Amino acid sequence: MRPLRLAVLISGTGSNLRSLIDARDAGRLDIDFVRVISNRPTAPGLDHARNAGIPWSVISKSTAGEAGQDQVVGDTLASDQPDLVLLSGYMRILGAGLVNRFEGRMINQHPSLLPKYKGLDTYRRALEAGDREYGASVHFVTAQLDDGPVIAQTRLPIESGDDTTALVARLQPLEHRLLEEVMALFVQRRVAMAGRHVAIDGQARATPLQWTPEGWQA
Ligand code: GRF
Repeated sequence: MRPLRLAVLISGTGSNLRSLIDARDAGRLDIDFVRVISNRPTAPGLDHARNAGIPWSVISKSTAGEAGQDQVVGDTLASDQPDLVLLSGYMRILGAGLVNRFEGRMINQHPSLLPKYKGLDTYRRALEAGDREYGASVHFVTAQLDDGPVIAQTRLPIESGDDTTALVARLQPLEHRLLEEVMALFVQRRVAMAGRHVAIDGQARATPLQWTPEGWQA
C-alpha cells in the first residue's frame, strides 16, 4: 500500500502535527506529508513543517486577496492531491464550497466529546456545566460546524479541583495518541464516511470508536 498523502491545516502551536511527524519518523505511520497550510503567518506550528522539510503555505485573508481563502486553500490542496486533509487546530470556519470539494476526505480534531460543546471554549463550558467526564473527538468535516460523523473519541474523568489548565494538560497527550491511532486506520485505508455514519472495514457504525491507552475498546 502506498503512503497516505496527508495535508494538515493549522493556525497555532501544531503540537498534533509535531506528534504525527514524530510517529512517521519513528516508522509508526506511513504518511507522506504533502503540505502544511496555516492561515496565520506567525503560527509556531509552521516551524515543524520547515524543520521536517514539508512544503508549507500561509494562506491568509491578505495573501488570498480577491479569490478568498477558501478558494485558494481548495486550489492549493487540489494541486497537492492529498488522500486526506486534517484540520488540526485550524481556527477558521470553512464554507460549504470548500468542505464539499473534500467531502469524505477531510477530518477535524475537536477537544470535546462531540456532540457536546461544538465550537469554542470547550474546556470551560464542560467545567462550568459540572461534567464528570471530558474527552476529545476526531470527526469527518461536513458543512455544519463540528457536526460531521465522529470517527473516534477518548475520554478522561474530570477531577474535583480541575481547572482549564489542568484539563488541557491531561487531555493533550491523549489527544495526540488518539489522532495517531485514527491516522493509522486511514493509513490502512480502513475508514470511510458513509452518509451520516462512519464505516470501518466497510461496516457502518452506530457509535464512535472508543480509544483508551489500553487500545481500542470493543
Ligand atoms: C487541539 O486541542 C485540537 O483539538 C483543537 O486545537 C488544538 C490544536 O493544538 N482543534 P495544536 O496546535 O496541535 O497544539
